[in-house]
Amino acid sequence: MLQSQRALFDMPREVCYLNAAGWSPLPLATQAAARAAVARKGQPWTLAKDFADQQNERTRSAAARLINADAGDVALISSIGYGVAAAAKFLTATKGTRVLVLQDDHSSPVLEWQTRAHSQGFTVETIATPADGDWTAAILAAIERPGAAPVSLASISSVHWSDGGLVDLAPVAAALRRQGAALLVDATHGAGILAIDVKALDPDVLLFPTYKWTLGPYGRAFMYVARRHHDGVPLEQTAYGRRAVKAEANVYLADTRYVPDARRYDMGERDHFISMEMAALGMELVAEWGSAALVRRLAMLTDRIADGVRGLPVHVPERRLRAPHILSLGFKGGLQPALVDALAADNIFVAPRLGRMRIAPHAYNDEIDVDRLVAALRRHIG
Ligand SMILES: Cc1ncc(COP(=O)(O)O)c(C=O)c1O
Repeated sequence: MLQSQRALFDMPREVCYLNAAGWSPLPLATQAAARAAVARKGQPWTLAKDFADQQNERTRSAAARLINADAGDVALISSIGYGVAAAAKFLTATKGTRVLVLQDDHSSPVLEWQTRAHSQGFTVETIATPADGDWTAAILAAIERPGAAPVSLASISSVHWSDGGLVDLAPVAAALRRQGAALLVDATHGAGILAIDVKALDPDVLLFPTYKWTLGPYGRAFMYVARRHHDGVPLEQTAYGRRAVKAEANVYLADTRYVPDARRYDMGERDHFISMEMAALGMELVAEWGSAALVRRLAMLTDRIADGVRGLPVHVPERRLRAPHILSLGFKGGLQPALVDALAADNIFVAPRLGRMRIAPHAYNDEIDVDRLVAALRRHIG
């Protein structure tokens, strides 16, 4: 099994950090590279002419590898919200159709559609949190509900950010395809940990950032776009999104046709050399560990917590319905904020999310961490 990778991080033994789903720490190597990158920006005359291109393509390839995409199908963007706004320019939710979202899903895959619903004449249908925790069955039932308006799009997370529920994307994608509906996946809590294969799944759009599970900085995210949408109009109009708009040429707007692949959707001010390299390093590291090894290790840790809290007044989601790397505990009457504060006072960091306690270990955590959490929970609520 993959061993604890704690030595790669600046993480004192007494700290028990279980909030990778909130924001992860940067590996020591990434911090060192970022310092060097800041110094490089201090001396821009030292940069080779193709430096930006090299960095952008290294990072694009690292992102593509995590989801089994080709680099040309991935755009460099800043956030999930940016990606959803960009996708909303080429994914057409027509009048009279339904756009499906999940109850209490993160705002980024939801609010763009709520904002557009009235002017475009579609309805946003919120799939209620299933009482049995089975998000996949609930989504399939909503897609196939007899007598309902046709579905044009499902804009959903692959792992629910607050309850840790896991969506089995393959049957969802197949059911949408049967209706001719599109699929936008917010893979914020999937990419880098769970195996994702866009070639097999064939979503229309799949998005993920780097500051959580792929151990990178804020402000860097990626948008996979299926080839059938490579003719769309990007959110921002950039020179590098066009075939020949070059500052160093004699003629500036020489060829304003868009570049033919997903690079046309790259964000403005893309060439941020500092965070671009940091993002690549985190993604390369998780790819080196591999999804299978990470899942085994993180499932071992979350299972150990689930076993350890047995008998306490908490609700533990069923193993087959939850993501292997997130354990979100439910409490009768909701989570008392004082409990999270009390744990933090013990140097144990978990996240309160919509009345639940979200516990999210990563490769730097070990059995000592999770046993400390269980002991502290027993002390406080046992
Ligand atoms: C499911 C999910 N999507 C998106 C985000 C972040 O969205 P954005 O990159 O638009 O800030 C988060 C952050 O917590 C999240 O949990």
